[in-house]
This record gives sequence, structure tokens and C-alpha cells, in this order.
Amino acid sequence: MLALWWLSAAVSKLPESRVATTEACDSAELPAPAVVVGGAAVEPPISETIELRDGRTVALRTLHAELQLTYAHGLVAAEELEALVRLAESRGGFRRSPLRRQHSDGVIKDDIRNSSSCPLLWPMVYAGRAHEVAAAANGAALLEELSLATRISERVADLFSRSGMPTTAAHVEPLQLVRYQASELFGPHHDYHESPSSSVQGEQRSFTVLLFGSTLPPGSGGETRFPLLDVSVSPRTGDALIWANLLDDGTPNVRSLHEGRPPASGEKLAVNVWVADRPFDSSSDLERAVRT
Ligand SMILES: *[C@@H]1O[C@H](CO)[C@@H](O)[C@H](O)[C@H]1NC(C)=O
Repeated sequence: MLALWWLSAAVSKLPESRVATTEACDSAELPAPAVVVGGAAVEPPISETIELRDGRTVALRTLHAELQLTYAHGLVAAEELEALVRLAESRGGFRRSPLRRQHSDGVIKDDIRNSSSCPLLWPMVYAGRAHEVAAAANGAALLEELSLATRISERVADLFSRSGMPTTAAHVEPLQLVRYQASELFGPHHDYHESPSSSVQGEQRSFTVLLFGSTLPPGSGGETRFPLLDVSVSPRTGDALIWANLLDDGTPNVRSLHEGRPPASGEKLAVNVWVADRPFDSSSDLERAVRT
């Protein structure tokens, strides 16, 4: 308890105040996202506007009936994403994603991926260890990272709860920052666990919330593409793409296949927020997720 109290006291003093929490959101003026379905640009209307606990207003557009594929305007502030990138870089956290071989439906395929990623501090593990975090040489930066990761995890959980799916930050995996430089890509893949062995506690990844930290105009690459739905979406800073990885019965949906297309020039930044089908149990070993 003491450690948690200490964390909240420390967090309130942190550079957090430099980072905006709310932004004006006038849905009448929101620019339509760059979405291409079946080769043609589409402009789906705003279907819902949700006011979050922290004061942000998020406008949603349904992009496709399958996967509950949704575009969310203004889920995160550009300053929050810039701060996360700065903090990840300051601790040398970005790693070139491993090219691993994976089994999929009995077939071994090469997972083509040369983007870089950085798992962020997981509040499930570190919120209760703030004294240890603060004692590190770069303690102030780590606490700021923890504070931002906590805030974003709670915001995503709040969005899901207000959309009718009761969710807490305990359902959220460690956030994963990803960076694609020119020509880097992440080939077609699924986010769900192909087998329980890659999960932390036997959970499954129900939803992916992909927060965009860069804006790439249509035609300049960097799209998130769903080849089986023939939908592609260009990234825009602060907005997010949300989709279900599972079918209604909780089993993997192969149609959630998606890829990160390479930016033609410039770079693309994003944060993967995976929402699990159950809350993580912090009383048992979570170190496994921290190592990845
Ligand atoms: C990333 O991989 C793709 C596909 O293999 C390749 O075309 C591209 O040159 C690679 N980019 C870098 C920076 O290694």
C-alpha cells in the first residue's frame, strides 16, 4: 500500500504535467481517415462519440463489419507518444524485431518482420515496485514511462468499458512501442496466440488497439492492411485502429490477418495495446511477459 501511495505521490510530481491529457475534439471538424476498401477510398461516418473519464472525447467510425474494425479519433495525444519514444530511446529500449519462424495451421512460415519494438514497463508488475524503479540511475525517466503506460492502459480499458465491455487496466498487456523506418515492414500475421505457450497466463488477445504515433499520407506507405478483408488504413498521429482477434466463441479468427506495410520514406511509430480475454493475475508470476 505504501509503495502504491508513494507512486501516486511521485507520479503527480513527474514531468507528466508537461504532457497534455485532453485535446479539443470537435467531431464536426475531424478529418476523415485514409481508408481504402476493395481498392477504393471510403469515408465511413462517425458512429459514436465517447467521453472518457480523463476528459478526452473519442469519436469512432466503424470501418468494417468483420473484426469490429473501428477507427478511433484522438485516443492519445501526440505529446504522449513523443514522450514514450523519447523515454524508450533514452534507455536503449528499441530492438530490431526478431525474424522468427512460426507455426500457423500446421505450416511453418517465416515471420517477415524488420521493424523495431520496445516493450514498455508493465504497470501490473512495476506499479507496486515504484521504490525500486525510482532507485535506478534513470529512475525519474522510468517513473515517467510507468506513469504514461498506466495512463494509456487505463484509458483504453475505460474506452472498452464505456463501449459495453467491462475492462480494467489488468486486462492490458505490456504496451509495445513499434517503429518502422523506410522499407521496414511486418508481414501478414495474427496477434492472437497460436498456442497457449506464447501467452503469459493462458489468456488470449481479444482485441488489438493500435495507436498511431505518426501521420503518413495515402500513397506513402505505412498502412495497416487486412489482406483478407481488403482494407487498408494509413496512420495518423493520435488516432487508433481497433479490432477483434477472436470469434464470438473466443477462438482465433484467421480473418484478423494483418500486416504493417513499409513506409516509402520517413518513419512510422505506433503502440500496440493488447486487451486480453481475462484480467492478468498479479499474484502469480508475470515476469514472463516482462522478458519479451
Ligand atoms: C526489410 O525487409 C524487407 C522485406 O524482406 C526488405 O525489402 C527491406 O529492404 C528490409 N529493410 C531493411 C531496412 O532492412
